[in-house]
Amino acid sequence: MSEVLFISESEGIVTLTINRPKALNALNKEVISSIGDFFSSGYKKYTNLVAVLITGYGDKAFAAGADITEFKDLNKEQATDLSLRGKKVFDSIENFHLPVIAVIKGYALGGGLELAMACHMRIGDLQAKCGLPELSLGLVPGYSGTIRLTHLIGKAKALEALITGHMFNSEDALRLGLLNHIDESPMERAKHIVSKIKRNGPIAISKAIELTNTIYIPDVDTDNYESQIFGELMVSEEAKEGFGAFLEKRKANFRNKN
Ligand code: CAA
Repeated sequence: MSEVLFISESEGIVTLTINRPKALNALNKEVISSIGDFFSSGYKKYTNLVAVLITGYGDKAFAAGADITEFKDLNKEQATDLSLRGKKVFDSIENFHLPVIAVIKGYALGGGLELAMACHMRIGDLQAKCGLPELSLGLVPGYSGTIRLTHLIGKAKALEALITGHMFNSEDALRLGLLNHIDESPMERAKHIVSKIKRNGPIAISKAIELTNTIYIPDVDTDNYESQIFGELMVSEEAKEGFGAFLEKRKANFRNKN
């Protein structure tokens, strides 16, 4: 197991914990590739997986950005490549078939916020601080941060945050929709959300993730695609169990468990 990314599993929830607290969990190449390994194939060894949580070790930071110590000797091609490789990993999170939730304690900055924004939901603690300070380094975000922040909070607020380097506190981030919830115990809150997710059809959940991602792809007719998916699901075993259970006035059993 990677020392910079702890992976644990309990009751269908895998938790990935970035473990570089001395560097405020900055995302070095090893962290990014370990996360990439999990979402490309590592998850397959966990059967009955319901959701994935990503967090940072300790209370001070989810992740304070990409690891700046890795920047100084990069040439243009290497820097472009670093950005593209990170984007590929973050896209694999956004397109993962199961819900991925970022549990943010303290700083989520730069690449750290970009990682959190690639997740399907973000739960912060009361000390959470979210921002994209890359322009203070003379850079722009490299892991699709400009795009995802604009989608999440709108162009005016996103551009202001980018060009001022503003760090949102937890309440402002919640108000803007950057965080789904804030809670003194964000991990417990995330697990509570997963307990609700567990009641629903796993294939329908994966399709809902796919559909909400598809609206950002310009040449896909999401509205029509939704109808296609609706049709496909209607004749699936999962939906038969779902509406069958409703009609029989019992709880649906999607996961072959009581
Ligand atoms: N990369 C590498 N090391 C980092 C780091 C980062 N992004 N952020 C913090 N650290 C290290 C610090 O260098 C320090 O190490 P030492 O103890 O060895 O000196 C340690 O973590 C603790 O940090 P501070 O002493 O700075 O802690 P603080 O409480 O005074 O400040 C902070 C906290 C405001 C988050 C500050 O650390 C900070 O500004 N960090 C950098 C944030 C940043 O600019 N992130 C964007 C990175 S670029 C990026 O992400 C590009 C991309 O999109 C791909």
